[in-house]
Amino acid sequence: MSSSIDMKSKFMQVYETLKFELTHDPSFEFDHDSRQWVDQMLDYNVPRGKLNRGLSVVDSYKLLKGEELTQEETFLSCTLGWCIEWLQAYFLVLDDITDESHTRRGQPCWFRLPKVGMIAVNDGLILRNHIPRILKKHFREKPYYVDLLDLFNEVEFQTASGQMIDLITTLAGEKDLSKYSLSIHRRIAQYKTAYYSLYIPVACALLMFGENLDDYVQVKDVLVEMGTYYQVQDDYLDCFGAPEVIGKIGTDIEDLKCSWLVVKALELSNEEQKKLLHENYGRKDPTSVVKVKELYHTLNLQAVFEDYENTIHEKLVKSIEAHPSKAVQAVLESFLGKIYKRQK
Ligand code: IPE
Ligand code: MN
Ligand code: MN
Repeated sequence: MSSSIDMKSKFMQVYETLKFELTHDPSFEFDHDSRQWVDQMLDYNVPRGKLNRGLSVVDSYKLLKGEELTQEETFLSCTLGWCIEWLQAYFLVLDDITDESHTRRGQPCWFRLPKVGMIAVNDGLILRNHIPRILKKHFREKPYYVDLLDLFNEVEFQTASGQMIDLITTLAGEKDLSKYSLSIHRRIAQYKTAYYSLYIPVACALLMFGENLDDYVQVKDVLVEMGTYYQVQDDYLDCFGAPEVIGKIGTDIEDLKCSWLVVKALELSNEEQKKLLHENYGRKDPTSVVKVKELYHTLNLQAVFEDYENTIHEKLVKSIEAHPSKAVQAVLESFLGKIYKRQK
């Protein structure tokens, strides 16, 4: 069970177990059609991503423990990992509707399938409800059960609030694009991405290890900083990533999003370039999108991003080194290693 390939297949095995349990939940009388719908909806939306968030619960727990996991510990850490993947699936199904996206993970967005459409809204709710059902089944007797429920509730609230400000900021941007700033971007990234992508996997591992999360505020701060960096990468890849690699087609320019790229572009533009942005940013027509992308190239935003990435990496390495526990340092380093210079 040592190699990561073995761990991934173990992780997938746990997925099948959880899916079976959820499609045989005694609290609902499943019939053939409803069971098949949930089964297909889960297969389409939950396990097709990179699984980084989920697998890092197992990785982090291993690093904290410092020795081989028991079968029970492996199963439970995989299960918590899947709860995070479920949380992500729930947010992505709804995010693709609000962002009017077309593809996700190399396939059409779930709501774009003709048989699905706005049923996807309710599927999002089903995905969200699966999390407490999984936790109840496998963690009810654990001393940290209440803390786990509370953690998932807190992070869901923060993420939904982040999604809200991501969306309502575009209303303000429509009136006046020059309102967009790095501090607004940072706030959106922190709430919509950092807590559910970076903080919750480590927090789950810490709770399972019997720790009190109040003692890990410093770790939380580093992970939130790393999560903000993760969102800057997402914004960069939205424009400059290869769709075949990232599995999605960017929509930030069309959606008038307060992306890191447009904030940087506004900062670096002269009056004429600003005018071009004001006239073309947030428009659906392909010629406007091309004009904005050309400006991004002219302003050399790829190099600006590279600079940012090197600087933030150095800063994060320093804050990790400042942490007193070697095991916690290893957890944070492993995370940073996974995301630094990521292409997808
Ligand atoms: C999504 O942010 C964050 C959540 C789903 C909570 P984005 O809208 O930037 O993510 P992508 O680019 O569609 O994946
Ligand atoms: Mn989106
Ligand atoms: Mn994005």
